[in-house]
Amino acid sequence: MSFAALLESLPIPILQAPMVGASFDAMTVAVSQAGGMGTFAAATLAPDEIGPAIDAIRARTDAPFGVNLLMAPPASPAPAEVDAALARLAPWYAELGLEVPEHPNRFSQDFDAQLEALTRAAPPVASFTFSILTRAQVDALHAAGSYVVGTANSVAEARAWAEAGADGICAQGFEAGGHHAYFLGDIEASSVGTMALVATVLAAVDLPVIAAGGIMDGRGVAAALALGAAAVQMGSAFLLADEATNGPTWQAALRAAPDDATRLTRAFSGRYARGLQNRFLREMAAVQEEVPAYPVQNRLTQAMRAAADKAGDPQMMSLWAGQAVTLARPGPAGEMVRLWWAQAQEAAQALARRTGAAGG
Ligand SMILES: Cc1cc2nc3c(=O)[nH]c(=O)nc-3n(C[C@H](O)[C@H](O)[C@H](O)COP(=O)(O)O)c2cc1C
Repeated sequence: MSFAALLESLPIPILQAPMVGASFDAMTVAVSQAGGMGTFAAATLAPDEIGPAIDAIRARTDAPFGVNLLMAPPASPAPAEVDAALARLAPWYAELGLEVPEHPNRFSQDFDAQLEALTRAAPPVASFTFSILTRAQVDALHAAGSYVVGTANSVAEARAWAEAGADGICAQGFEAGGHHAYFLGDIEASSVGTMALVATVLAAVDLPVIAAGGIMDGRGVAAALALGAAAVQMGSAFLLADEATNGPTWQAALRAAPDDATRLTRAFSGRYARGLQNRFLREMAAVQEEVPAYPVQNRLTQAMRAAADKAGDPQMMSLWAGQAVTLARPGPAGEMVRLWWAQAQEAAQALARRTGAAGG
């Protein structure tokens, strides 16, 4: 079966976005069981945890699911760079009553070891974000029995993934919550809205395209499918789901968010990501270009974000969310997927009437 055929065979062409910090295996299983496709965010797992996590999902559903890795580059920053970054963070740590952390030995999981473990575990779909695999790595995943999806913020990135042998492109628009996937251009060149991105990627590559960014309900699903997407990937729409793991402080901030709540920021992680504006984001805006690149800054702010969460203080947490997050609603993830599909069908019928395609 081709990847296009797999997407076509899904009862509901809605993929749950992998969300480090906001989703775990329960959401993946719930969405796949409901007829969509869940994606397990494995980026923070140690290589030896990946196989067992995938086995545990397999044990709970026969339906297809995906597993996602963030491709963190190996980082060995100069000690002076780490000192400078920690000095910038010192007042924030002090406010939380914490010592500034020691220099970490490691800034992220070892991607090559994670990829090896993922390839061995051979999930039905493997998706990747922040960089690009080599043709040999894609071939190894294919030989193991996984389809490969590459995340792109631009047509150039989609073309690069097609050339590397990917089976599908996740086209992530500027509206999207969380980290943006860009790896070829700078953030400005990579800030393309979902509608423009999906249409131009479809024109450029002969692969199924999954639309991501700003899709919050069935109307968005219908719009993306009308544009030619083979499926959609939704993240923010699940942030208040029963299975979401983002916790009460983040969720309360989402519930209280005004319409224009989100901004792109580099301050938390050293890579642009979209989240609710808060005091850390505002006060760090002027120096955000100076912080060390991902994953270094991400690691250095980790203890601050965790302590703020524990203290119930949303002002120093990375509250990732997309531009349309005010439309997020609570509920069981599986029911949400079924509701959105019913809404998409209604939207398609209304469109058929409007265009005269309904006949009569
Ligand atoms: C809290 C959060 C965490 C995310 N973590 C990941 C991740 O681990 N891997 C990834 O490829 N994308 C991640 N994303 C981005 C999503 O895959 C997707 O592109 C985005 O949610 C789509 O836009 P939307 O939030 O408007 O639906 C994350 C998004 C959010 C909101």
